[in-house]
Amino acid sequence: MKNINKDYLAIAAAIGLLGLFVTALNVFHEELEVVTSSPPTQQQPEMTLGKRIARSCVSCHDMSRSRSMQLVGPPLWEVFGRVSGVVPGYDYSAAHIRKSAECMVWDEESLDAYLANPKAYVPGNKMAFAGLRDAKERKALISYLKTLRYPDEPPASLFTGNETGDLSEALFASAEGEVWKSKGEETVRRVCWTCHDTGETAENKHGPYLWKISGRTAGTATGFNYSASMQRYADQGLVWNDYNLCHFLKDPHNYIPGSTSTMPAIKDHLTRMAVIGTLRTLQ
Ligand code: HEC
Ligand code: HEC
Repeated sequence: MKNINKDYLAIAAAIGLLGLFVTALNVFHEELEVVTSSPPTQQQPEMTLGKRIARSCVSCHDMSRSRSMQLVGPPLWEVFGRVSGVVPGYDYSAAHIRKSAECMVWDEESLDAYLANPKAYVPGNKMAFAGLRDAKERKALISYLKTLRYPDEPPASLFTGNETGDLSEALFASAEGEVWKSKGEETVRRVCWTCHDTGETAENKHGPYLWKISGRTAGTATGFNYSASMQRYADQGLVWNDYNLCHFLKDPHNYIPGSTSTMPAIKDHLTRMAVIGTLRTLQ
C-alpha cells in the first residue's frame, strides 16, 4: 500500500512538473509573439542572426531602452523610423547633421546602404566601422534593429505626430550657428512673409498664420479656408513637427498634392533647416 502511494505521488508530481513546463513554454512563446508579428518559425533564424551581428555594434552603441550616452556612438533604441542625427545631447559629426537637414530617416533602405558602407553613404561621418558586406546579414540586423522599441509603439512615421526631434538644434549649436540663425530669419522674412503672418496677432493672409506652427496640427489656423487636400491631411492628423515641415518645405506640391499653396520649395538643405529652426521660435 505504501509503495503504491509513493508511485502515485511520484506520478502526480511528474504531471505537475509537466504542467509547469508547458505553462512556461506558453509564456515564453507569448513573449516572442509580442516582439515578432510573423510566425516564429520564419522569423526565428533571422532574428538570431540579427542579434548575433548586433554584437559588433554594442561596443560603441547602447541598444537598450536605457539609451546610455556613455559609449562613443549614439544610443540605438528606437533608431528605426528616426530622423538621422537627432538624439538630443549627442555630438554628431557635421556629416550626420547634414543628413538630418535632408530629412533623412533611418528606414530599411537607408540603413541597408549605411551599414553596407558607412563612409560612402555618409561621407565624413565619424563611425569607425567598415561595414557589412553580406546583404543577408544586413537584412537580419535591420529586422533586429526594428525590435528596439516598446512593442505597442508604432515606428515614428509621417502621420504619427510623435516625432519631436529638434532638427535645427545641432546646426544652430555648431560653430556657424549664428550665421544660420540669421539666414533662417532672413529667409522667413523674404519668402514666407509674402503670404504668411508670423506674429502673435495671428492674422490670416493669403496663407494661414504661422504663430505656434511648430507642433501644430495641420489645417487648424482659426478662420482660414484651407484647400480640400490640406484638409484631408489635417483629418489624418498630420502634425507640423520638424520632420514633416522638412518634407513639406523641401517639396510642397509633392508632399501635399493639390494644395492651393504656391509656396516655393526650399531646395538647400541647411537653409531649410534654418527656416525650421526659426519657425520653432514663433511662440
Ligand atoms: C567603433 C565604434 C562603432 C561601431 C562598431 C558601430 N558604430 Fe554606429 N556609430 C558610431 C559613431 C561614433 C556614430 C556617430 C557618427 C557621426 O556622428 O558621424 C555612429 C552612428 C550610427 C548610426 C546613426 C545614428 C543616428 O542617430 O543617426 C547608426 C544607425 C549606427 N551607427 C548603426 C550601427 C550599427 C547597426 C552597428 C553595428 C553593425 C554600428 N553602428 C557599429 C560608432 C560605431
Ligand atoms: C505664395 C504664397 C505662399 C508663400 C510664399 C508661402 N506659403 Fe505657406 N502656405 C500658403 C498657402 C495658400 C497655404 C495653405 C495651403 C492649403 O490650404 O492647401 C500655406 C500653408 C502653409 C503651411 C501649413 C499651415 C497649416 O496651418 O497647416 C505651412 C507650415 C507653411 N505654409 C509654411 C510656409 C513657410 C515656412 C514659408 C516660407 C518658407 C511659406 N509657407 C511660404 C502660401 C504660401
